[in-house]
Amino acid sequence: MKAASLRERLRAQLADLKMPGALEALDDILSQLDGGKLPPAQAIEALLGAQIQLRNTRRLVAAVRASRLPAAKTLADFDFTFQPSIKREQLESLHTLGFIERRENVILLGPPGVGKSHLAISLAVAAAQSGRRIYYGTLADLITSLEEAQQAGRLSQRMKTLIFPSLLIVDEIGYLPITPTGAMLFFQLMSRRYERASTVLTSNKSFEEWGHIFGDDVMAGALIDRLVHHCHIVNIRGNSYRMRQHAELYTVLNRKGPDTPKRRKGQEAVAS
Ligand SMILES: Nc1ncnc2c1ncn2[C@@H]1O[C@H](COP(=O)(O)OP(=O)(O)OP(=O)(O)O)[C@@H](O)[C@H]1O
Ligand SMILES: [Mg+2]
Repeated sequence: MKAASLRERLRAQLADLKMPGALEALDDILSQLDGGKLPPAQAIEALLGAQIQLRNTRRLVAAVRASRLPAAKTLADFDFTFQPSIKREQLESLHTLGFIERRENVILLGPPGVGKSHLAISLAVAAAQSGRRIYYGTLADLITSLEEAQQAGRLSQRMKTLIFPSLLIVDEIGYLPITPTGAMLFFQLMSRRYERASTVLTSNKSFEEWGHIFGDDVMAGALIDRLVHHCHIVNIRGNSYRMRQHAELYTVLNRKGPDTPKRRKGQEAVAS
């Protein structure tokens, strides 16, 4: 009877403290405790752990929704054996998020389908799990949103939204053409994030080709200068994961396509 009322009091306290994760785990933990399967200190740890786990899951769901991530990818889903040019230790180390603490950038370079977006998203997911604010966009989408904001007289608010997150993902640099105004707005954004907060960027083009993407060699040079100042470059050379079941087709496209790994010969992985 006494035990039952203690249990009820614990339930009421957990409800009062708004700890539904702990509340749900309570009965199981108490029975393990009563059965001698769990020492008291570990029971407390398990109870608090259940609440922390629920909080982290909720945080992640909210962050992923707010950040517009296109999918939830994790490092655990990434098959390193398929992409031997990637150093597993470098990626694992990046996922401990020290680069965000140090306000460094990450640039993932490589041809289509080699996992650039996957790894950029998995970094964002890890950052969201740690409670950091993240934001995802393709270069084209981010620029469109800045141009629209400028036309509507809301540029400074939009800039603030994109400067504020601890981690911004800029995906797909090099696939779609951008206007001179768009390039200038993106340069402003990156200049304002420089040494303030981390950005993860992905591109299918080598740095030498960025002048062409941004339509201005001088500005592209200044942009790259800022981005690589404190930066980890992951240069992926390999086959498209999308094409893994079509090896023959890949060989044909690789011979004729504009972005073959061969063209990226000059690029070397520079880990810092
Ligand atoms: N090594 C891998 N292990 C598991 N899944 C992978 C791997 N590489 C890529 N994928 C998966 O293959 C698909 C294509 O990868 P991703 O979108 O990351 O390529 P990308 O390099 O960004 O290509 P693009 O330049 O076309 O945008 C995704 O669904 C991704 O999760
Ligand atoms: Mg991609």
